[in-house]
Amino acid sequence: MLSNTLITVAIDGPSASGKSTVARKAARALNFNYVDSGAVYRGLTWKCLREGVDTEDAAAVTELVDRTRFEWFVEAGAVRFTLDGEDPGAQVRSVPVQEHVSDVAAVPEVRTRVVRFLRDTTRFGNLVMEGRDIGTVVFPDTPYKFYLDADPEERARRRHQEMLKSAASDTTVDKVFASLQRRDRKDSTRKTAPLQIALGAQVIDSTTMVAEEVANLVVKQVRGGLTEQ
Ligand code: DC
Repeated sequence: MLSNTLITVAIDGPSASGKSTVARKAARALNFNYVDSGAVYRGLTWKCLREGVDTEDAAAVTELVDRTRFEWFVEAGAVRFTLDGEDPGAQVRSVPVQEHVSDVAAVPEVRTRVVRFLRDTTRFGNLVMEGRDIGTVVFPDTPYKFYLDADPEERARRRHQEMLKSAASDTTVDKVFASLQRRDRKDSTRKTAPLQIALGAQVIDSTTMVAEEVANLVVKQVRGGLTEQ
């Protein structure tokens, strides 16, 4: 334990900027819990698709969120969740979820509820949370805010490499690039909590850095900030 006060580290940035890997590594090094906030929007999208709820119908999506029992649990240093008792697991990474999640994440009523769920994770102790609005909306008062970025071409290359590891993928870098551009546009132009650099966030351009270096930078800043207290 580095301090007696609760510490929340916010890591935001566009898709495939390396947030997940960096946030996981930093959380492990600091011995904090890791929270993937995008997984919550993805989980709710997965439930909509499974129940035939049109993800472009904001009222229907909100209704589904309201009748879903949401519960957190901690496993191996990560804060995870169940929806009506079910862990969506790897299904949140499926292509249909990927294609519809920006619609669900753009619904203001859904965001209000998810922000409430996300804030509740502090009951598990210190954490590193990654997403798009963690430093701007979820934990705007934390002094530990980071905004990760990388050139769009590099992000597409990284995401393509990741996808090649899943046997089902036959996509190309160009297709991944186009899909990332679409999602970035949606995430940055939506009316509620668009992706933005939070006030006071440290911007890290990871185009020429490996995840280890970025994570070390985050850990160093957090440890440095804590010893100054
Ligand atoms: O980080 P990700 O790819 O798992 O995010 C999935 C979607 O959810 C993406 O469209 C951005 C959105 N999202 C968001 O709006 N706010 C967050 N805090 C996290 C993700």
